[in-house]
Amino acid sequence: MRFKDQVVIITGGGSGIGLATACRLGAEGAQVVLADLSADNLAKAEPQVRQAGAPDVLCQVCDVGQEASVEACAAAALQRFGRWDGLVNNAGLMLFKPLEAQTEEDWLRILRVDLLGAFFFLKQAFLKMPPGGAVVNVSSIHALETTPRVAPYAAAKAALVSLTRSASMEGKAKGLRVNAILPGAIDTPMLWENPNIKAGIETLNANDVGKPQDVAATIAYLLSLDAAFVDGAAVLVDGGRLSKL
Ligand SMILES: NC(=O)c1ccc[n+]([C@@H]2O[C@H](COP(=O)([O-])OP(=O)(O)OC[C@H]3O[C@@H](n4cnc5c(N)ncnc54)[C@H](O)[C@@H]3O)[C@@H](O)[C@H]2O)c1
Repeated sequence: MRFKDQVVIITGGGSGIGLATACRLGAEGAQVVLADLSADNLAKAEPQVRQAGAPDVLCQVCDVGQEASVEACAAAALQRFGRWDGLVNNAGLMLFKPLEAQTEEDWLRILRVDLLGAFFFLKQAFLKMPPGGAVVNVSSIHALETTPRVAPYAAAKAALVSLTRSASMEGKAKGLRVNAILPGAIDTPMLWENPNIKAGIETLNANDVGKPQDVAATIAYLLSLDAAFVDGAAVLVDGGRLSKL
C-alpha cells in the first residue's frame, strides 16, 4: 500500500494508460482524481477505478490545455481531499498530416494539450503540492525517434522531456521530484486509431506492443518512495523496441 492516504491527480485518466494508472494507484491505496476532457470516459472509468480498490475517486471534467480549467481541477481536488501528493501528466493527442499540410492552428492544438497542459499542471503542483510530492510526465518514444506526419506530436513530446529536466531542477528546492516516462507502442485506443499503423507506414511486431498496465507499474514506481533518488529521469517503457538493430 505505497499510496495509502495519498491523493493523486491523473490527467487523461478516463482511458488507456491514464485509466490503468488510476487502477494501479487505487489498488495501492491512493485516492484518485481523474481529470479528463471526456465526461463519457470518466463515467466509464470511475467504477473500474473503485473496483480496483481506490478508497475514493473524484471525476473532474478538465481540459488540460486551458489554464483556468487546470486551476479549477487542482482546487477541486484540494477542496475534496485536503491534500495533494502526486500528479501524472498523461493527457495527450496526436495529429497525422504531412508537414506541408500542417497549419499554425494544428501545431498550437497539439502543443496546447501535449506540452502546455503539463506545464499548467506542474505550475499548480509547484504552487500547492507540499514537499515529498512527485510528478510523472508521460512523454513518448517519439521524443527520441519518430515516424512521418506527426511532427507537432514528436516536438511536443521531446519538449516535455526538456520541461521535465527544468521542473526537476526547480522542484528540488520545494522537495518535489519530477520524472518522465517514454512509452513505446501500448495497447490503447490511441494506438489502434493511429493512421500510420493502419496504413502500414509504421509496422509493429506483436512483441513490441505493451499493456497499459506495464506503463502504470512504472508510473507507480516513479511516484513512490521506492524512486526517492530518481529525479529528472526519462525512463523508456518500450519493451526494448528502440534498442534493437
Ligand atoms: N498508446 C501508446 O502507444 C502511447 C505511446 C507513447 C505515449 N503515449 C502517451 O500516453 C498518453 C495516454 O495515451 P493513451 O494511449 O492512453 O490514449 P487514450 O486516447 O486511450 O487516452 C487519452 C485520454 O486523454 C483524454 N484527453 C484528450 N485530450 C484531453 C485534454 N485536452 N484534457 C484532458 N484530457 C484529455 C482523452 O479524453 C482520453 O480519455 C498520451 O500522452 C500519449 O501521447 C501513448
